[in-house]
Amino acid sequence: MKTYKLGIIGYGSMAGNHRLQLEKGNVPVTLKGVFDIDQSRLTLAKEQGYLAYSSKEELLADAEIDIILVATTNEHHKALAIEALRAGKHVICEKPATMTSADLEEIIAVSKECGRIFTVDQNRRFNRDFINLWRTIDSGAIGTPYLIESRVEGSRGMPEGWRTQKEKGGGMMFDWGVHLIDQILYMTKSPVTHVFCKMYSIHYPDVDDNFRLFLTFANGLTAEIEISTNNFITHPRFYAFGTEGTLVITDWDGTGKVVKKLCDDNQWAPEIKKVKAGPTKTMAPRDPSTVTVTELTEPTDVVDNLDPVYEQLVAAIEGEELRIKPEEALRVMKVMEAAFLSSETGECIKLNV
Ligand SMILES: NC(=O)c1ccc[n+]([C@@H]2O[C@H](COP(=O)([O-])OP(=O)(O)OC[C@H]3O[C@@H](n4cnc5c(N)ncnc54)[C@H](O)[C@@H]3O)[C@@H](O)[C@H]2O)c1
Repeated sequence: MKTYKLGIIGYGSMAGNHRLQLEKGNVPVTLKGVFDIDQSRLTLAKEQGYLAYSSKEELLADAEIDIILVATTNEHHKALAIEALRAGKHVICEKPATMTSADLEEIIAVSKECGRIFTVDQNRRFNRDFINLWRTIDSGAIGTPYLIESRVEGSRGMPEGWRTQKEKGGGMMFDWGVHLIDQILYMTKSPVTHVFCKMYSIHYPDVDDNFRLFLTFANGLTAEIEISTNNFITHPRFYAFGTEGTLVITDWDGTGKVVKKLCDDNQWAPEIKKVKAGPTKTMAPRDPSTVTVTELTEPTDVVDNLDPVYEQLVAAIEGEELRIKPEEALRVMKVMEAAFLSSETGECIKLNV
């Protein structure tokens, strides 16, 4: 089996993570060298035993390099990806692939024109928490799902630097929103019809440092996605409502529980009940014998790291269908664009993607 040679443009912290994954040797891809505009990153690469190219042109002219990882800040992804594709390289680009859907459409056109693969590092499709949510819903454990809540929350603000700068593609929609939207769109094979979003700039005036996003799909499913950098009491990672039950995934390891009804408990007494919530029939507690509770354990068969992203790229180079398609990233990009517009105008945006 051929081993593919990788060159990296933008050797920052995420690129370092790719290096660590590749050094494990689980995929037939080896890192040959890097280019970065920051000299200290080139020095580091040399110390680690890799080639430090003096320019991106020198890297792209290296005939031994098969694949380019674009891992710069977001505003350079488009130009670098196009240049690499035109130099005959396959490209894996960090997320978000671009900052507009028009830019991503251009990359897709160039990738087709050059006959080279372009894929995006949507590595969170392979996370245990998400896989357990998807599997459990697919098994019918909560009946037909009608609302999925997906949240990632911190309270420490955002790291200083480009993430706080709009022109560099900072903000939480491009940082985390892109992952959470990708997950929900990937599992829901139905077009998004409505997008409503409220973005906040609580501590970083230039970008969205928190947001709430509400999506409606043509098949009736709805999803609420929340990213916070200023929440001191966190919610569960996922919460899903179905016609027959409720599911919670508490944490990143995918653990949680499902509560499913065994039968309807609609023996409404003629008299109103006095319960903790006050005098109410509707909100009186259910008889516990009318539900089952199933604990969800960590899925042990899920490789929760970056390897599959390279695996699917190599498989596609060798003729298989690409699993992380740029057209899927384009759907996500269109939803993010609608989210920005919704937050700006205060309106719900209709679309069909
Ligand atoms: N998939 C994931 O889970 C994940 C996680 C973190 C970051 N990311 C993505 O990775 C990318 C980089 O993020 P990071 O956290 O590593 O940022 P970083 O600031 O640590 O690294 C960016 C690097 O790119 C270099 N750079 C900038 N412009 C360049 C250019 N024109 N040519 C060459 N080098 C250039 C910088 O000098 C820096 O070393 C972003 O797109 C980010 O969204 C993805």
